[in-house]
Amino acid sequence: MDFRSKPDTNFRNIDDLTEKEAAEEARALRDGINYHDHLYYVKNAPKISDAVYDQLFQRLEDLEAAFPDLKTEDSPTVRIGAEPVSKLTKIRHAAPLLSLQATLECKAVESFLRTARDKSGTTSVRYCLEPKFDGLSVEVVYHDGRFKHGSTRGDGMVGEDISHNLKTIRSLPLCLQEADGASGRVAVRAEVYMSREGFVALNRQRVERGQDTFANPRNAAAGMMRQLESRNVAGKPFDIVFYEILAADSQLPPTHCEVLDQLSRWGLRVSPLNDSGSSLEDIRAFHQDLAKRRDVLDYEIDGIVVKVDDHGLRDELGNRHRNPRWAIAWKFEPCEEVTTVADIVVQVGRTGILTPVALLQPVDVGGVTVSRATLHNANEVRRKDIRVGDCVRVIRAGDVIPEIEKRIGQKGSKRAAPFSMPRRCPACGSKVQRKGAYYLCNAGLSCPAQLVTRLQHFASRDAMDIKHLGEHTAAQLVERGLVHDLADLYGLTVEDLESLDGFAERSAKQLHDAIQGAKKPPLDRFLYALGIRHVGQRVARQLANEYGALESLAAAGQQDIGNIPDIGKETAESVADFFADHQNRDVLNRLYKAGMDVQPMPGKHRQP
Ligand code: IVH
Repeated sequence: MDFRSKPDTNFRNIDDLTEKEAAEEARALRDGINYHDHLYYVKNAPKISDAVYDQLFQRLEDLEAAFPDLKTEDSPTVRIGAEPVSKLTKIRHAAPLLSLQATLECKAVESFLRTARDKSGTTSVRYCLEPKFDGLSVEVVYHDGRFKHGSTRGDGMVGEDISHNLKTIRSLPLCLQEADGASGRVAVRAEVYMSREGFVALNRQRVERGQDTFANPRNAAAGMMRQLESRNVAGKPFDIVFYEILAADSQLPPTHCEVLDQLSRWGLRVSPLNDSGSSLEDIRAFHQDLAKRRDVLDYEIDGIVVKVDDHGLRDELGNRHRNPRWAIAWKFEPCEEVTTVADIVVQVGRTGILTPVALLQPVDVGGVTVSRATLHNANEVRRKDIRVGDCVRVIRAGDVIPEIEKRIGQKGSKRAAPFSMPRRCPACGSKVQRKGAYYLCNAGLSCPAQLVTRLQHFASRDAMDIKHLGEHTAAQLVERGLVHDLADLYGLTVEDLESLDGFAERSAKQLHDAIQGAKKPPLDRFLYALGIRHVGQRVARQLANEYGALESLAAAGQQDIGNIPDIGKETAESVADFFADHQNRDVLNRLYKAGMDVQPMPGKHRQP
């Protein structure tokens, strides 16, 4: 029995097990849970979904309840979470950070309500209803209204000091707004999460830097917040939402709804989705409503949390070992499905990076048809060992880009050969080069795949902002041989444009005007528009501010560029290579001849 690589959750009925069988299963479950804990908490790279993990954990709890002799002191069930392992300073929490009993079943919620009702001795109990954020659980402590420190959950008793990273989150106040009522110590529990858009951008950046990608925004939040240096965390789209007071020196309001109001008055962000109710119907409606809205939120939630509102009743209900009896998490059905890999193709990006993409047998994952999933890079394909014909589990962690979570082993079936990156660019046939973790087509603008996406990028809003030049138009310009490089854009006539599908005289004139009107970009936008590998908006702005004018940057060597703080070796090399390339120089010269007048940056600049 093995719960490490193939956690089979089709468990036998506990009543049918002999003591020996139960002991064997409990041992395997403990081993599996410890293994997955390590992957989740230490490596930030889980192999199984939360839903499967919860099932394993639940099964172990059930076995230990049915066969009490099986309980061991080191069983994962006697711990709250995993042990903290890192160089970060340890912080003891003001009160234990318990976890929630989680369920997918309405029946379990019903029984939770019954327990609360029985304990209260009344027929109507009020509940606060909150989204269950799928982020990183943290404790934040204020002393006399000032931020003292913040830490991860760790093992529930002791976490890791991540104050330096938390302080980079703009929505986390360093000073409470209404200091009275916050005298002495206030310890609050909150969730740090990353926007989906930010997560996609972060993974893209990591692929370009040859780093492993994060499987989902939660892992990204956990991984980033536990970094020793806050430099990489600052500016990333993290947010924080507060939902419980763990401990306070001053008197607290008697109900949770009032506690949430108090948090809000202190300037601590609480969820605008919070609600309250007193019946199963109210709770079911909230669950359904959030399940529907889940996909349009810019962050991930994986269920709802139902909490007894009255603190007196909470105290009476008390806690189990790891979970309070006054709250329950009702999770959404996991967005994951199993399908087969029909093919693995390779896409050529704007900067020439080759990305393997799995084409899937279309499958409905949580209401969205998924037919392709990025495999990020060759290392990732190798690590997950994905081949054509494989059966895979696809997760859509709520986000737009689906991921292949893992391959599901099929006994006895013969598998296709392992995937390997092509030697030649699938778009232009030129030789592929390997650089670190990624593979590149260096044909630059003579590769049609790069040219179309480069044109699109050049015209995009944050670059040259040329309206009406989308993907379809860019593709036609390249296919019809009207544009061979960026400079050709400025030589296009109204007649050329009128010949394109979907264009008439008026629209052709509009696009022509838009192109001709885009000739005086500030240096930072122009640099970004050129689509130099590793030069995103931030780096473009930094280079522009350092050098002031394009000529100075073009004359600077790799070493000089690399001396700029925060500009890495790879970026410096890529920029220097770009300006050294004769084809690129030719395009720049022709852009100038066509009237391009890049605006220098004001102020003092570095002399190369
Ligand atoms: S209350 C013990 N409220 O869900 C009660 N938790 O194990 C304290 N979570 O790691 C937790 N959204 O980080 C609470 N609105 C919410 C939550 C929430 C997400 C997390 C929490 C914990 C996990 C449950």
